[in-house]
Amino acid sequence: IRVAVVFGGQNGEHTVSCESAASILTHLDRSRYDVVPVKIEPDGTWIVGADDPAVFGAGDHAVHRFLTDDFASTYAAGSTALSGIPHALDQLRDVDVIFPALHGPYGEDGTLQAMLAMLRTPFVGNGVLASAVGMDKEYTKKLLDAAGLSVADGVVLGRERDVPSDDERSRLGLPVFVKPARAGSSVGVSRVDSWDMLPDAVGAARESDRKVLVEAAMTGREVDLGVLERPDGTTDVSPPLEIKLSGSQSLFDFDAKYSDSGAASFEVPADLDPGTTEHLRDLSRRAFDALECTGLLRVDFFVGDDGAAVVNEVNTFPGFTANSQYPRMWRAAGLDYPELLDTLIETALS
Ligand code: DAL
Ligand code: MG
Repeated sequence: IRVAVVFGGQNGEHTVSCESAASILTHLDRSRYDVVPVKIEPDGTWIVGADDPAVFGAGDHAVHRFLTDDFASTYAAGSTALSGIPHALDQLRDVDVIFPALHGPYGEDGTLQAMLAMLRTPFVGNGVLASAVGMDKEYTKKLLDAAGLSVADGVVLGRERDVPSDDERSRLGLPVFVKPARAGSSVGVSRVDSWDMLPDAVGAARESDRKVLVEAAMTGREVDLGVLERPDGTTDVSPPLEIKLSGSQSLFDFDAKYSDSGAASFEVPADLDPGTTEHLRDLSRRAFDALECTGLLRVDFFVGDDGAAVVNEVNTFPGFTANSQYPRMWRAAGLDYPELLDTLIETALS
């Protein structure tokens, strides 16, 4: 099976995608797959590379370094380097399946998925609608709310205004969390404890997206679940994973997510009573269905002491290093990382 792994991308999660792809490229079973790595540079250049056992067999960290530092110089000078998107896409007509390992806008938001759909080559994961809605926190809330799931109250600041009204402020209370409506990995997210901090927070969020969400604070434990579609069309839900922040850390921010500071650790399965776990699994499946997802979804909740669960957000292509939440949850369910990759690819091909 020839599989193209597309990674990198044009947004604040470029390096995160390179990390996800490093694990995917390391762990795809070469006795089953011919692999074509395809990097999208931050400037939008596409580089179609080649598989190289010496490089991709060197372990996740070495592969990540190669993808970040050396990929362009290794392949861009060669005949396979193509900068025009149509030309790069044309090369992808030869593969059996495409594995988009991209996070954030122009990768996880339906734009890439639309091009892949036009190629008529099967691809892993979510299609245009689920990707577009899942990337946009305003529309994620609307669809999940319509399906009866609880979401945090929020106010959207679009083109037309920079501040919530007085009524909205008193409705949301403090603190609020200010987020770009369409971004990931907590890029551009700030906690606002007094309203005079709001302009700076909105400014920071607007560096990632014109549309900004001012969201009421959610309380409780931060718990993620994964949904995985099987080749026969049924879905499985993973055990829950709890994100535990160390004492001084108040937000699971970009640094806590990706540095080795020890600011966050994962407990899987999360220590929840069976009724709460079952409830979260049911909500996760309903979120998957409400957004018309395919392939996979990670649903992130806040769970109160009484077991009440609020959906914080969804990720249509969650962080995918071998140590990221989604693969960790499936490992706890007995599905190791290479088998998880096999399942995603088999489902895409079915
Ligand atoms: N957006 C990042 C990759 C995540 O949710 O894991
Ligand atoms: Mg996210």
